[in-house]
Order: sequence, then C-alpha cells, then structure tokens
Amino acid sequence: MDDPIPETHAAEELEAVRQRIERLRELVRYHQYRYYVLDDPVISDAEFDALFQELVRLEERYPQFRSDDSPTVRVGGFVAERFEKVRHPVPVLSLANAFSPQELREWRERTLRMLPPEEHPRLGYTVEPKVDGLTVVLHYDEAGRFVLGATRGDGYEGEEITANLRTVRALPLRIPVEPDSPLRPPARLVVRGEGYVEVADFQAFNRRQAQEGGRTFANPRNFAAGSLRQLDSRETARRPIKLWVYQILVLEGAENPPQTQWECLQYLKALGFPVNPENRHFDDPEFERLVAYADHWQELKERLPYEIDGLVVKVDGLRHQEILGTRGKDYRWAVAYKSGMQEAVTRLLDIQVNVGRTGAVTPRAVLEPVQIGGVTVTAATLHNEDYIKSLDIRIGDFVVITRAGGVIPQVVRPIPELRTGDERIWEMPRTCPSCGYPLVRHPGEAIWYCENSACPAQLVRRVEHFVSRAAMDIEGFGIRQAELFVELGFIRDLADIYQLPWDRILQLEGYGPKRVANLQRAIQESKGRGPTRLLIGLGIRYVGTIVARLIMEHFTSLYELMDADQETLAAIEGVGPKIAESIVRFFGLEPNRALIHKLDGLGVQVAQERQEAPERPQPFAGYTFVITGTLPSMTREEARRFIQERGGKVTDSVSRRTRFLVVGENPGSKLRRAQQLGIPTLQEADLRRWAEQGHPPEGLQPGAGD
Ligand code: IVH
Repeated sequence: MDDPIPETHAAEELEAVRQRIERLRELVRYHQYRYYVLDDPVISDAEFDALFQELVRLEERYPQFRSDDSPTVRVGGFVAERFEKVRHPVPVLSLANAFSPQELREWRERTLRMLPPEEHPRLGYTVEPKVDGLTVVLHYDEAGRFVLGATRGDGYEGEEITANLRTVRALPLRIPVEPDSPLRPPARLVVRGEGYVEVADFQAFNRRQAQEGGRTFANPRNFAAGSLRQLDSRETARRPIKLWVYQILVLEGAENPPQTQWECLQYLKALGFPVNPENRHFDDPEFERLVAYADHWQELKERLPYEIDGLVVKVDGLRHQEILGTRGKDYRWAVAYKSGMQEAVTRLLDIQVNVGRTGAVTPRAVLEPVQIGGVTVTAATLHNEDYIKSLDIRIGDFVVITRAGGVIPQVVRPIPELRTGDERIWEMPRTCPSCGYPLVRHPGEAIWYCENSACPAQLVRRVEHFVSRAAMDIEGFGIRQAELFVELGFIRDLADIYQLPWDRILQLEGYGPKRVANLQRAIQESKGRGPTRLLIGLGIRYVGTIVARLIMEHFTSLYELMDADQETLAAIEGVGPKIAESIVRFFGLEPNRALIHKLDGLGVQVAQERQEAPERPQPFAGYTFVITGTLPSMTREEARRFIQERGGKVTDSVSRRTRFLVVGENPGSKLRRAQQLGIPTLQEADLRRWAEQGHPPEGLQPGAGD
C-alpha cells in the first residue's frame, strides 16, 4: 500500500484527473448557461451542486490544474488594490437622444441623406431595450477564453475588472458555450454589453442592507456599477449581477462573419452570450411600424423586471454603420429613443431643504436655469438624504436632470468627470431650517421630519391645506392669505383662522370692506363643514380624504377620535397600523389636543350633527367607483361628492371590488389595471345620465351589486 506509485502510473493518473477536471468544467459551464442565460435548466440544483463540488475538490487537490476560465472562479477570491487602466481596441462611444417620434423620424432622414441612394433599399434597423446598468467590454482569445474585462471609462480607456466579471454567472468564460456547437471560437472577439441588476434583486439587497445598517444604493444602475467596481471579487460574487451583450467591437477570424447588427446579435447568442429577447428588427419601409413599436417602450418598461431608460434604434447594416461613422463622442448610426422623457445637463448651484405641510424635510436642487422640452427648469427634487449620499451628488456638480411629462424634474445623477475639485459635499441639517426644532428620522424611513406643529414653515402649508377645497373649503383664502397672515403674526395655529384681527386686515392694501366681508362670511360658513372635513384639514400624515371618511364613520366627534387607541383605529377597515400610529402620535401631542378644544370653543363643528340628510335619491347605492384622469366639468373632489351624495362609494385604487372606472382625460395606470380586470369605464356624462335616470346606462348593467 505504501509502495510509491511508479512514475508512469502517476502520470497516467494525473492525466485522468486533468481530463476529469476538463469534463467537469465543460459540464458546469454548460449547465450554468442553461440556468443563467437560457433560463431553462436541464438538471436539478442538487445534481448541479454535485458536479460543482467535485470540481472544486479536484482543483483544490491538484492546484497545478487551476485555471482562470474555470467556472469555480465565479465565486470570486481575487482582491485588487486598485483597478488597472485598459485601453479599448476601438473607441467605445455613446449615442445621441431622440425624445419624440418626430425626432426619431428626423434621425432616419439624416441617415438616408448620408447613405448613397442605391443603398436605401437595403436599409434596416434593430430596436433594442436600453438597459440601465454599467457598460462592460469583454475580450476573448483565440481559444474562446474570456481573458479581459473592462469598464467603459471615458470611452478610450477603462478600468480592468476581469476578476469581478468572472463572477457574473451569465458571462461565458469560454465560447462557444454549448459543448457540441458547430461554431469555432473566432481568433479574436471583443464585445460590449451591460451589467445590470433586476429591480426586485436591488430592492431585496437594499432592504437587507438597511436592516443591517449597511450601505444602500439609490437605484439598480448604481448598485450594478458599485458591485462591479468592488476591489474584492468575493463581494461582487455575492451580488445578483446580470448581463446583456449588444455590440461586437472587434471580430477577427470568424468563419462566417455577421454583416448586420441583427446577425451580430444572432451570432453572439449562438456563442452562448445572453442577448436580450426583446430585440427587434425592422426594414426601412416599415419605419412607421418601428416608431409605433418604439412608442410602446413606456409599457415595455413596466413589463420588464429590469430598468430601461429608453430604446436604442440602430442602423442594421455594418457597412452602413461604417459609412455613417461617428460625430464627436456619438455614433451617427444609432440613437437612444426616450419619448415622453426629456433630459438636460446643468449645474447644481445649491441644495436647499424644504419643509412640507406634514413636516417632511426634503432636499431640493437649486439649478442653473436650463431648458427641458421648452420649459425652463430651475429646481428639481433630490428625494432624500440617502439618495444624495448614494449618488455622491455634490454642490457645484454638473448633473443630469430628467423631466417626464407633468412630473417634477428630477436630478438623476452627477457627472463626476466634470468636477473641478471645488465641489462641496452636502450634509443634511439636523435642525428644522424654519423653526430650529431638532429633526427626527424614524427607523426604516428615509425622510426626516420636523414634528413641531407650530413650525412657521409648516404653518403656511398647514393653513393652505386647512382652507383648501378638500378640507374646510374657505373661498377667497389661499396660499397668499396663508403667507400674509402667518407672516404678520395673525395666525399662530390653525384655530387663529377663526379669530383674525379684522380691523387690522381692513388696513392692509387690497383688503377693502367688500373683500373682507366675503372672506369673513366664507370663514364663518366653513365652521359647519363637519368633523370629517376638519380631520382632513388637520393634515395628519396618511390621513387624506378617503381615510378621514372611513374613520369618521366610526366616531361621532374629534374628541372621541382623539381618545381612541391604536388598536381600535387599526381595526377599522382601510386603516392599517401605520395610519393608526400616525393618528395616535398626532393626538398624543398636547398642542394638537389643545387645538381641537380651541376650534370647538370658536364655534367650529367638531362633532357629527345628527341632521337629517336631505332626501335625495341614491341611484349609485351599492356601487364602488374609482376616478381617473381629468373630467370635463367636475374636479375629482366634486365627482367624488357627486357619487357619494347619491349613495355610491369611491375608492382610490382599482381592485376586484371596483364596479366602474370613471375616466377623464389623461387617465393614469388605473385605466390599464381596470382593463386587465375587465372593469367597465364610464364618462362624466354617463354618470350624470345615470343620476338623472336613476339606473346605470344601457349596456353597462353590471351583474349584481357589491
Ligand atoms: S448601443 C451604438 N445598445 O446605453 C453603440 N447601448 O448611450 C452604443 N445600452 O453606453 C451603445 N443597452 O450603456 C447600445 N442594446 C443596447 C444598449 C445600450 C444599454 C447603454 C450603454 C450605452 C448607452 C448608450
């Protein structure tokens, strides 16, 4: 037994081990490909683990056979001190944007003008989702081995992140991946792709980090970029990075080299690379179909598990691409299509914090004025402290701003390449910029709050909300009056609205006797709006119109509500523990309790009046409605009252219980959801007709009531 193994014998055995290792690598590679690229495994996880573990053990025992293209390197292990620079074999350029169908058509026309007319019949395009991640450049050698991977960097020189990229499961370590592929590896291949993370994986990671007090990321793109730029590849291996490849940068010695982008995509796929299945091809005469398809990207965006920031439209023929060439840092043969979304770059002059009505203290970007889609933008949202930290946005930075139709402009990211060194890191203030009261941030939340209800910044907003239509509905009282009366010290809390110093107001410019009388009357009238509207007016966090109504179905007065405990409140249908806690916290503060007493003392109705409701027919009784979009003649609030006064129920979101969706102009996602659930839609006119006739419009008779 202890006899030394004869030399030749040992050599044979070693050769057998080497062959077994080779075979195991092939198998593991193939099954990883089935699993991570094709999403179609053919063996069980346990069977796979057995193969993988056997390979790990053999490589540990026979270190002489270790290799960088072994799939075991995917677990990481290499720790770098810094990233080496890599020069790209060809410039890795970028794209110009098209923000509307018109701009996309103009891009096509420019393309046609630059191509000789005899080429026009051969013109075609690909349309590809523009995945938002980190661009990577992948090099393969003549044996088909993945030998080098880099970031894009400035387009000419990137950072070497080979060890990190090896941990990406979908990245082929050896091509072709399929063991019996008819393809042979080309002499040289350099491809470009995008490392990305799916939204759900990103959220799960952030949630875990937040619980453990670790660093979180602002968005999936930053998460992907941060993960691929880890110095310790074992850390990268733990991150759920995925990959799509979409461009061949260098191809030498291929048997049947592709001639078009579409063929490039097929070729890459055949070699075993992950290629996005949403990619499409169109011929030039079908350009309008391409536009129609591209215009659906917003919908596509919602369907995909990862974030895209538009579509890339590319001229298909590689020869055509060559003729078109580049312009500055952009390829002329491709364009990024982002209809409905607009972008601009400007300088971040300052970060201010804004105190909202509910006391939320949020950062706001002060921008050097910039035009986006014909609108001058000077401010944008920065969401919260973590957002700024995780994106490393600094005062003085050049930043990318986006504005999607009707939505508040957002700062999407800084452009660190443009830094001069004079930029300043911003710190979230620890005290309220308006009243100096210390700010609080509750565990698990990203927002800081000023909980001082007498905070002047909040007071103006609180007053504005209190007098608004949804709440106490005081005509002639708006933000101007709120600002003025708070500024002059006439209003120190909400109840002061009912004891304004009218003699002094009469002396103010623009406040003549008639106007003052009207205002007095409107204020007087509002006293009788009732406890539900008053509750809405208090502006308690999470207590809007719907919640206030649900709650006040269970209490006869605000005094009663004030003393309700959290359990009682949370037991009300539609009121969760979060809302209950918010209410209890609000009434737990002495000044807020005092406010109710003060309002009551000034004659504001804080209890339900047992008034007999006006006898009105209730044609909507038993039906639940949801309203979306802008109605022709009613505000949403008016429509809500219209329905409720006639016995109907109105809820905020579409569910199976929704009977009808009332649709106005520019309906939101509620319409799509309703269509999915097969819920019939109504116009405002249908609603009125129904109220008049006393029965639902013909053809819309639903089966049964709720
Ligand atoms: S093509 C034309 N195709 O979008 C060559 N880019 O500015 C330029 N991207 O840096 C890129 N998916 O990070 C192309 N299918 C795709 C893409 C894509 C995502 C990213 C990539 C690039 C940026 C374009």
